[in-house]
Amino acid sequence: MQITQNTSFPKHFLWGASTSSFQFEGGATLGNKGISVQDLQQPNPGCCDFSVASDHYHHYKEDIALMAEMGFKAYRMSIAWSRILPDGFHLNPEGINFYKNIFNECHRYHIEPIVTIFHFDIPQALIDLYGSWLDRRMIDAYVDYAKQLFKHYKDDVHYWLTFNEQNMLIFFGAVDIMGSNRMFHSDKELYQQAHHQLVAQARAMILCHELCPTAKIAPVPNITCCYPKTCHPLDYIAAKRFCDLRNYFYLDALVKGQYPTTCLSYLQQQEAMFTWEAKDMDYLKNAHPDFIAFNYYGGATIEHWKKEDAPNLEQLQNMENHDISFLSILAQKPSIGKSVSNEYIAKTSYNMNIDPIGLTATLIDLYDRYHLPLIITENGCGCEDELTPDGCIHDDYRIDYLRQHILAVKAALDLNVDVFGYCPWSAIDLISTREGCRKRYGFVYVNRDDFDIKDLKRIRKDSFYWYQKVIQSNGSQL
Ligand code: BG6
Repeated sequence: MQITQNTSFPKHFLWGASTSSFQFEGGATLGNKGISVQDLQQPNPGCCDFSVASDHYHHYKEDIALMAEMGFKAYRMSIAWSRILPDGFHLNPEGINFYKNIFNECHRYHIEPIVTIFHFDIPQALIDLYGSWLDRRMIDAYVDYAKQLFKHYKDDVHYWLTFNEQNMLIFFGAVDIMGSNRMFHSDKELYQQAHHQLVAQARAMILCHELCPTAKIAPVPNITCCYPKTCHPLDYIAAKRFCDLRNYFYLDALVKGQYPTTCLSYLQQQEAMFTWEAKDMDYLKNAHPDFIAFNYYGGATIEHWKKEDAPNLEQLQNMENHDISFLSILAQKPSIGKSVSNEYIAKTSYNMNIDPIGLTATLIDLYDRYHLPLIITENGCGCEDELTPDGCIHDDYRIDYLRQHILAVKAALDLNVDVFGYCPWSAIDLISTREGCRKRYGFVYVNRDDFDIKDLKRIRKDSFYWYQKVIQSNGSQL
């Protein structure tokens, strides 16, 4: 498809794609890596664990060559904290070298690494010691880790991202992924942790500006616009509150240096107000992120809460499988409203929204509110791809999904929103957070099943060749 209007993306637009270490890397016990909370996760029934993943640990040269073949300008990846500081404190030179090699490989092909400092894989040793982010010492632990990265990769990395989807971890109460020695936390405890994580990020941003003056650093929440289910005024208010608590609480803290008043009063009403030290607010005020990175998987539609909607808590407590639907029920609170399906938004086979218009709206909202350059660091279509007998993957559904979202980015650019990159999820197949390796996102197929590692061969999907053309034409051939 040819774009009809003004066809060009900015000249240096960062086309690329994303991965995260625990979902992609494997080598969970290799190279003196410490144990991370992800290594101890109990996989959902029928799903593999993350120990081998896509074995990028051994395939990184081949993988980065494939990214280069697609023409990537950027590669958004993450560093495993427990590979750098296995016990949370002592440096692992092998871990430092591992990522050094990855960066060298990227630079060989003129691919700009965009590096997430923390993507859901805290060293278990820190949790054993501190329990969770409720302990303020976690702030220092994170800042010490970030300092090592800035020191060692000063010349290799020019784009840093602080903390993947912090907002989703707090909003859904996903303490298991975030790192905690227990399964549940009250709202008060969750927001206390959110505050500590935000202070940690602010301090990392300040440090990055000091130690790596030419580098840029940003938060990386999962952001989406929130539609009221109807024009009922209570739906409107519920959607606004949902949006503030889901999105702006985190970005306002780091970009504006203050929490939205509406969120603070909500937390007070709920007796969930967290505490802070005076210097914390100075850190937030001085964080000054250089841009905003965000992950986008489709809009949320919010209906105000009705009494009869109350979840059956007894039933919830007895559920053993703490999957995402369980967590979404927990996130439904009377005072916030609840997320419902939207008849105008299509779904993928895994019930994920396909909402490109929401992406344009989200880009506009973010730019209007913060006036910072924007990059999309995740967006994608998780599906079960079929390998044909002649070794091909015809993933036209993925091409269609990505095409619509790239057009949505273009629509925002046409309105002068400053978007400088698009890195969908994922560069190459990897393991889904909760749905094993059947739910694939990549441009490249990795030949393995949940319980059969096979040969891990990399196979180019149809979307690989399509994205190659998109990048080659700088977005004019879709
Ligand atoms: C994002 C996460 O929320 O969604 C990724 O940053 C994750 O880590 C992605 O993989 C897709 O979700 P899932 O559950 O399909 O892996």
